[in-house]
Amino acid sequence: MTEVLAVDAVDVTKRYGDLTAVDAITLQVAQGEVYGVLGPNGAGKTTFLRMLFGLIRPDAGTIKLFGQTWEHTGPRTLDGVSGFIESPKFYPYLSGRKNLAGLARLDGGATPRRLDEVLEIVDLIDRADHKVGGYSFGMRQRLGVAASLLRDPQLLVLDEPANGLDPAGMRDMRSLIKRLAAGGLTVLLSSHDMSEVEEICDNVTIMRTGSVVYHGEISALRDQAPEQGHRIHTDDDQRARERAARHPGLQVTLAPDGGLVVEGSQHDVDAYVTTLVTSGIAMRGLELTETPLETLFFMLTESAPGGVPNELDRRPIGAVR
Ligand SMILES: Nc1ncnc2c1ncn2[C@@H]1O[C@H](COP(=O)(O)OP(=O)(O)OP(=O)(O)O)[C@@H](O)[C@H]1O
Ligand SMILES: [Mg+2]
Repeated sequence: MTEVLAVDAVDVTKRYGDLTAVDAITLQVAQGEVYGVLGPNGAGKTTFLRMLFGLIRPDAGTIKLFGQTWEHTGPRTLDGVSGFIESPKFYPYLSGRKNLAGLARLDGGATPRRLDEVLEIVDLIDRADHKVGGYSFGMRQRLGVAASLLRDPQLLVLDEPANGLDPAGMRDMRSLIKRLAAGGLTVLLSSHDMSEVEEICDNVTIMRTGSVVYHGEISALRDQAPEQGHRIHTDDDQRARERAARHPGLQVTLAPDGGLVVEGSQHDVDAYVTTLVTSGIAMRGLELTETPLETLFFMLTESAPGGVPNELDRRPIGAVR
């Protein structure tokens, strides 16, 4: 018998007046995987997650969490499920530990040992007795994860857990999620940042204005990503741009904020750099632009409807299972 899916959402739709915030989203999360719902602002990520938590009702479609639906099981649908929507909120004048103890009391209680355990997991044990008002943003996000872990969930749903974190905070959040997943927890998280999810998620659904533009494995997406882009700075960008004519395999454009953006194979980029230097053009910088997956993400989510590459547009739902 196949294991019941942690999340089985079929054709889930939510409308606000004329706006379809979530348009027939179908998404399955297997137990034990880390799944990403990815999309720019307004894509419908939070609306979708709100429906999972039963905070708002879908206008159409069905949602099952471990085989249970809100219609049949009510709030018990959330047994084994926890997480947060947007930013977790705490009393700033209470310590992290007291906030957790208060939340635990509302949810069946937790032993002091369990409080210590979850604070330990999110690396806040040393600051547990300090007021939350003095916590950094990243510490509050991690306290949110600790609060979610109190009920020892099987599925953790996190809405943009790394939003607003600095690179170190993002790294800490990524490694926390990886540790939790390694312990067998299923994680469904949303994000607007491809670089945040590409390292930790097995599968992703990419949304744009309520609809799915890609659904599948990160590895399959990576295979379809364009070449790595480069940004070049020289002492004479105009002349460097003219030299690009000798390299038809490359696309070289002047970046509005300075320098040149060079797209093409690594081999062609190397040859172009050599041309510049042998032409007496001095190189002042060579850096990578966004990763190929980020470029693909922008292509998928920024192009006008209908402008998405065919092979990626509305990939059949369930293609990976
Ligand atoms: N209660 C509401 N009433 C009216 N429109 C809403 C409501 N909630 C969300 N929307 C609209 O639904 C769309 C999706 O919003 P949602 O918050 O789900 O996007 P998101 O992907 O979470 O974006 P962000 O990255 O900014 O958090 C937006 O156009 C938003 O304005
Ligand atoms: Mg949101």
